[in-house]
Amino acid sequence: MRLDKFFSEQKILSRREVGEKVRKGCIAVNGKVATKSDVSIDEKRDVVTLDGEVVEYKKYVYVLLNKPSGYVSSTEDPRDKTVLELLPDNLQRLKLFPCGRLDKDTVGLVILTNDGVSAHNALSPKRHVEKKYFFKVADEYSDEDSFAIESGITLADGYATKPCKIERIDNNSGYITLTEGKYHEIKRLFGARGNKIVFLKRISFSSIVLGDLPEGEWRFLTEEEEKIFISVK
Ligand code: URA
Repeated sequence: MRLDKFFSEQKILSRREVGEKVRKGCIAVNGKVATKSDVSIDEKRDVVTLDGEVVEYKKYVYVLLNKPSGYVSSTEDPRDKTVLELLPDNLQRLKLFPCGRLDKDTVGLVILTNDGVSAHNALSPKRHVEKKYFFKVADEYSDEDSFAIESGITLADGYATKPCKIERIDNNSGYITLTEGKYHEIKRLFGARGNKIVFLKRISFSSIVLGDLPEGEWRFLTEEEEKIFISVK
């Protein structure tokens, strides 16, 4: 890969900026100051530094965001704010997209990436990736409600939901873990039992957990989490 592409592909510097940095002697490859921006490098092996700092080659980026209410899970929207607007400019330029959708009023864990293949795999219904949510409902729910929802419900459009798991916290709240992600699924599950979701927060995706990341904030997935995301089975 050309040195200028190494920087421009990762949106660290534009090709023109690479030229400027090279002229100023700010870029080195394996300890040798680069004199041309079109030199060929091995991006996986060569050690590239910019202003003395090592720049690791990362083809894909994986970001975990704690989505606040009021943002839509898409890359652009004519009316609403999108989750991408919560990321800094340098990340927005990487053409990230949310892996799966949360409703506008749902909060919590959203993974954004530019790795289309892994995102597709992670969302594939065949993979049965577990997604866990904390929920609150307007009215008390019974053990029969839990049992019916856990066993699978035929929704108004005829779709029969896959089995899921509910862990009760109290009469109006709990955790629900789904292995699929149909449109408004949790709201429709409780709706089918005559109840109404009043708060919904996704707290984990596979074994990647939201933890105490504040609402509206983001962080990169750790290497361990990247591996989990890429290889979700
Ligand atoms: N189920 C819903 O009803 N809404 C979401 O945002 C996610 C799951």
